[in-house]
Amino acid sequence: MIAPPQTENHQPLAHLDLEKEIVRLKRQMNAVILAHFYQESEIQDLADFVGDSLQLSQKAAATSADVIVFCGVLFMAETAKILNPSKLVLLPDLKAGCSLADGCPANLFRAFRERYPEHVAITYINCSAEVKALSDIICTSSNAEKIIRQIPPEQPIVFAPDQHLGRFLIKKTGRELRLWPGSCIVHEMFSERSLVQLKERHPHAKTLAHPECPEAVLRHADYVGSTTGILKYAEQSPATEFIVATENGILHQMEKSCPEKKFISAPGEGGCSCSECPHMKLNTMEKLYLCMRDRTPEITLDEELRQRALRPIVRMLEMS
Ligand code: 13P
Ligand code: SF4
Repeated sequence: MIAPPQTENHQPLAHLDLEKEIVRLKRQMNAVILAHFYQESEIQDLADFVGDSLQLSQKAAATSADVIVFCGVLFMAETAKILNPSKLVLLPDLKAGCSLADGCPANLFRAFRERYPEHVAITYINCSAEVKALSDIICTSSNAEKIIRQIPPEQPIVFAPDQHLGRFLIKKTGRELRLWPGSCIVHEMFSERSLVQLKERHPHAKTLAHPECPEAVLRHADYVGSTTGILKYAEQSPATEFIVATENGILHQMEKSCPEKKFISAPGEGGCSCSECPHMKLNTMEKLYLCMRDRTPEITLDEELRQRALRPIVRMLEMS
């Protein structure tokens, strides 16, 4: 039998109205709850702001709250802390990582950079604070193209850690990017063959894909963009049916803002629905409540590292 969640003094949480308690703690702490679109729907509904990676860092940069409760993954909460060294930044589960960040360790990234000393390093925000500190400009999927277009054409560029986003940007901008070979475990699972079969069964559906998907999937998409881009496309399109190739948490906002439209998750190999990020889904309402009640786990960063990681993030915010 699975034991129910316990508090620190071993009291079960089942008797608590978690939503009410979280709202009470939020007022008491002067906290803001920021959530990514890939969080479970209950968390999204409770958050003060739900958005993509860029919007969440902009919100973190602008907040006047004393405490930032980040419902997302570690690199996002770290970015909030880099921007707000004096604030308490909480992440409900410190183990909420990211395959892109984990696949790009700082020592190997440093060696990669050293091989291309003339190159400017534009690095996807899905990376550790150490890798940010070794980068020139950070980007997200919603501003990467805009940032690359601001780099003089004669300036060579390395792009890390997502090779699929990198290839998409090469196609979009016509620039040669030296790519780090990383990928997202969720977006890599979508199957071209199953997607084509699904499209045949839904001939009027528009296919919307995140640029972390492999090229073989992106070539079947009517629209490729960030989570916010995907949401906006669905809101503005006259189509009524959509196949969505990104983490399935986004479907919650799509269904909320377009209740009359139908959204179908893109399938994995053999038609499986495997579009759930195991890292994002580590955060739960129970852990959210506990992290606020106990003011832990907290994000902490070495000050010298924080200052080095801040520079490329500020450049991103200026260039967005
Ligand atoms: P965006 O929300 O910025 O599109 O990023 C998606 C993602 O994979 C976050 O980990
Ligand atoms: Fe990382 Fe992929 Fe999860 Fe986003 S969906 S946090 S890129 S593993």
